[in-house]
Amino acid sequence: MDNFITGHADNIAHLAGNARYRFIQHDVTNFMYVEGALDGVLHFASPASPIDYLELPIQTLKVGSLGTHKALGLAKSKGARFLLASTSEVYGDPQVHPQPESYWGHVNPVGPRGVYDEAKRFAEALTMAYHRYHGVQTRIVRIFNTYGPRMRARDGRVVSNFIVQALKGEPLTLYGTGGQTRSFCYVDDLIDGIHRLFLSDRADPTNIGNPNEFTVRQLAERVIALTGSSSPIVEKPLPEDDPKVRRPDITTARAVLGWDPKVQLEEGLQRTIAHFRTAIAR
Ligand SMILES: NC(=O)c1ccc[n+]([C@@H]2O[C@H](COP(=O)([O-])OP(=O)(O)OC[C@H]3O[C@@H](n4cnc5c(N)ncnc54)[C@H](O)[C@@H]3O)[C@@H](O)[C@H]2O)c1
Repeated sequence: MDNFITGHADNIAHLAGNARYRFIQHDVTNFMYVEGALDGVLHFASPASPIDYLELPIQTLKVGSLGTHKALGLAKSKGARFLLASTSEVYGDPQVHPQPESYWGHVNPVGPRGVYDEAKRFAEALTMAYHRYHGVQTRIVRIFNTYGPRMRARDGRVVSNFIVQALKGEPLTLYGTGGQTRSFCYVDDLIDGIHRLFLSDRADPTNIGNPNEFTVRQLAERVIALTGSSSPIVEKPLPEDDPKVRRPDITTARAVLGWDPKVQLEEGLQRTIAHFRTAIAR
């Protein structure tokens, strides 16, 4: 189910004609009806990149609140298991590093990024309420920066930004001096972690992300080297409330799910660069 507010039909074109797949174009902030039995409801709908949620603040708050309410209602009515795609942004600009699930976060509710962070925090609270009050089987994954093929070229996420800029020979834009750190998880690792969590019996939030930490400048240098680009690196002013550090503590995922990321940055970047080379050439 998708209303394509930030997504695109091209991303699911390869599934057309698969008898085990059905697509419904629908805004999940509205009541949803699905015929037949359901085993699971996995709620991933949300504007997800900083550019998107700053441009779509109300839709972001609505899909985190009303959309989560409708998705939980569907799961409850079908007796289905529910999974919420939450985010490391619930930790805000963290004062604890790395971030374990027990950390309550440091979020500015009225800053520009608050629309996304608070929507996801509300979504987590609502999910736990359905779990405790209605007995719905719920799972919450706190996803840390994830990247891979089929990302949009200009959606404001740092990995795709840098790759496209490098391939086009444009300057790579660093916000601030690029000393802020991030950890980047390859999409296949994330999916494996989410699948394990969904099948587990853990209702409490669970971090899934790659704990290897890099500065954003190091990432830019790595992308330039791997693409063979001669692009320069330029610095731009740091956006408001940009987190300075971000790294998951994945002790829980390791212990409870037996999960560990396998794809290291170099390999993941190479696969993602290959995708963008083809996409840009088209
Ligand atoms: N990619 C990451 O690094 C990351 C990190 C943390 C959390 N997440 C979360 O994971 C989920 C998926 O992220 P993604 O990177 O795959 O993003 P994505 O943009 O590829 O997918 C999100 C989809 O949600 C759809 N959508 C938005 N509002 C909707 C609505 N009201 N009704 C129906 N569809 C709607 C969009 O059209 C889009 O196709 C999001 O909830 C995001 O917040 C992602």
